[in-house]
Amino acid sequence: MTQIPPNIKREAPNILVTGTPGVGKSTLCTKLAELTGLQWLEISKIAKDYNCLEEYDEQYQCPVLDEDKLLDGLEEVMCKGGNIVDYHSNEFFPERWFDVVFVLRADNTTLYDRLTTRGYTGKKLEDNIQCEIFQTILEEAKSSYKENIVHELYSRTPEELQDNINRICTWLQLWFQDNQS
Ligand SMILES: Nc1ncnc2c1ncn2[C@@H]1O[C@H](COP(=O)(O)OP(=O)(O)OP(=O)(O)O)[C@@H](O)[C@H]1O
Ligand SMILES: [Mg+2]
Repeated sequence: MTQIPPNIKREAPNILVTGTPGVGKSTLCTKLAELTGLQWLEISKIAKDYNCLEEYDEQYQCPVLDEDKLLDGLEEVMCKGGNIVDYHSNEFFPERWFDVVFVLRADNTTLYDRLTTRGYTGKKLEDNIQCEIFQTILEEAKSSYKENIVHELYSRTPEELQDNINRICTWLQLWFQDNQS
């Protein structure tokens, strides 16, 4: 007989914030974590701290992520809930982890300026700009999660950043209203 797993309810929602490098994920997540008390999980930093990075990929100029090790390490904290996950990719996370997905966007000029300020050049710069032009991360999110939980948010200016924070805070309030025990 198939065993039905108990319906474990999270005490707070898990939010995924994703998008091309430089669109402003960490900027938004820091403020959101301060305001809400949710825990900001900056995946690139966690992967480094917990030795989930493998050999360096010369073509993409970044280390290769050991996804299985990272996911195993995060399972417990994600099951509890109350996390804001910040990462530039999203398809390898379990779909069940997230209550909502925000894909941050910027226009090409804004992103170009931000990435050159960071010192990105050549292929790395071009690849990231192309990723944004082709809205690769948005498409990835739409094909990995239910479309009605995926929201696109432009974060080009401080005003848009504030609007996005307000919108996410409103979403959070509704989640807590709907999920009162
Ligand atoms: N809404 C915004 N308005 C103006 N500047 C912004 C906005 N959001 C982010 N920035 C600026 O853009 C730069 C990149 O932002 P940030 O580091 O948050 O991007 P990221 O998406 O976390 O990048 P990565 O994926 O590489 O970690 C920073 O200098 C930040 O100050
Ligand atoms: Mg970041």
